[in-house]
Amino acid sequence: MNIVLIGFMGCGKSTVAEKLGEVLDREVVETDGLIELEQRKSIPEIFAQSGEASFREMERRLAERLSAREGLVISTGGGMVTVPETAALLKKNGIAVLLDTPFSDCYGRIAGDCNRPNARSRSRDELCELYLSRQPVYRSVADLTVDGSLSVSEIVGEIVRKVGCERESRAD
Ligand code: S3P
Repeated sequence: MNIVLIGFMGCGKSTVAEKLGEVLDREVVETDGLIELEQRKSIPEIFAQSGEASFREMERRLAERLSAREGLVISTGGGMVTVPETAALLKKNGIAVLLDTPFSDCYGRIAGDCNRPNARSRSRDELCELYLSRQPVYRSVADLTVDGSLSVSEIVGEIVRKVGCERESRAD
């Protein structure tokens, strides 16, 4: 089983993934980073040159490959699981963990970030609207939800504890 971290931009997925990988001695895959590496382009370049729909298709294809792998910690891009087929692929062999982080915390981390085209192009109100519109999607995809306003070690501890239980219940 993979552990798949989901949630809005700036919710803490990358930081938590890194620590979780250390604690569980698992390989960490950053979907954004891997797409950038393979395309030899930054996310803003991909959005500008090919459009968001192409980026979502790259995410879907990556999810297909990752679903065939085991024991990973996967840190997803914030819009990745909004495409139902991509979410289903990630969940085929993964437990989806939602980092439920208040908008104000996310906003503080993403405001004015040039590397996030979906944040850069929006005002605070527009980002809040996007955040609110995605919450039901994240919740419907999530197998587990963790309070993203806790400290990184607390979040990692919660995930390890809850995923342990989840594994047992899935193994029944
Ligand atoms: C996006 C989130 C980003 C990245 C891309 C689009 C989104 O990932 O995939 O800029 O639409 O929410 P982070 O969640 O790591 O910022």
